Amino acid sequence: MTQHKPIKKAVFPVAGLGTRFLPATKAIPKELLPIVDRPLIQYAVDEAREAGIEQIIFVTGRGKTAIVEHFDVAYELESTMEERGKDMSVLDPTRATPGDIITVRQQVPLGLGHAIWCARAIVGNDPFAILLPDELMVGEPGCMKQMVEAYNEVGGNLISVLEVPQDEVSSYGVIAPGAEISDALTEVTGLVEKPPVAEAPSNKIISGRYILQPEVMRTLETQGKGAGGEIQLTDAMARMIGNQPFHAVTFAGNRYDCGSKTGFVEATLALALERDDMGSEVRAIAERLLAK
Ligand code: G1P
Repeated sequence: MTQHKPIKKAVFPVAGLGTRFLPATKAIPKELLPIVDRPLIQYAVDEAREAGIEQIIFVTGRGKTAIVEHFDVAYELESTMEERGKDMSVLDPTRATPGDIITVRQQVPLGLGHAIWCARAIVGNDPFAILLPDELMVGEPGCMKQMVEAYNEVGGNLISVLEVPQDEVSSYGVIAPGAEISDALTEVTGLVEKPPVAEAPSNKIISGRYILQPEVMRTLETQGKGAGGEIQLTDAMARMIGNQPFHAVTFAGNRYDCGSKTGFVEATLALALERDDMGSEVRAIAERLLAK
């Protein structure tokens, strides 16, 4: 098997305004809204770490510093907890190796492609991952680990995909699938961002996880505006097809669209129901509410 350069860096675009969740997101970044007791960003960072990623690159914007605080040491909190003999392990996921959290700013919201391009100096010449924290992917192993496993086989560029009802494709990036390599791995022959339903090449959508080669940064450099007047990552990736291997991994697990309010509520319920410490209580509450 060819040795592919390992994936050690991940970019998390977190500059979005989160207007769909106002007023909750007026003073709090949407990535810090909790699903049960963990902020959304924590799930994405945990997923990346499980996949062997070491460097966490946040593309942030104004009003988003609380995300970085979340991954810092909170001295007062920790010393008070210690004095009171509290269990400190709840904070473990928020700890970072010194120097492993890096932020860059996207000053103007010009689109996902532009946000990723803002991280070009840190990505350098390494292949890297991208995780969109709005998409909560729950699986064993997690989505990024499934992708890294596929990457170790085929190398090149990979995106995670899942099927949605045909009438929903216009909200997403859609792939044109090519040859099937295995049950979960397909070649990608084309990509289109937010196509009209009638023009969508399939109902397989990009679900917010990517492993890309650094050349995408050069492609983004000259990427014009696309769907919604934004610089789209999908358009830049589409231009790379043919020059570089491109595959889609069908994620085995559950996906929650936490960019929408109903998806957020669904995720909260689903994850609470799965928890050992509260699942049965939450089930009883849900049943009582539904019986009303
Ligand atoms: C972005 C991507 C799109 C992808 C989606 C997944 O769109 O551009 O290709 O399918 O995330 O959530 P956005 O949700 O930012 O409009």
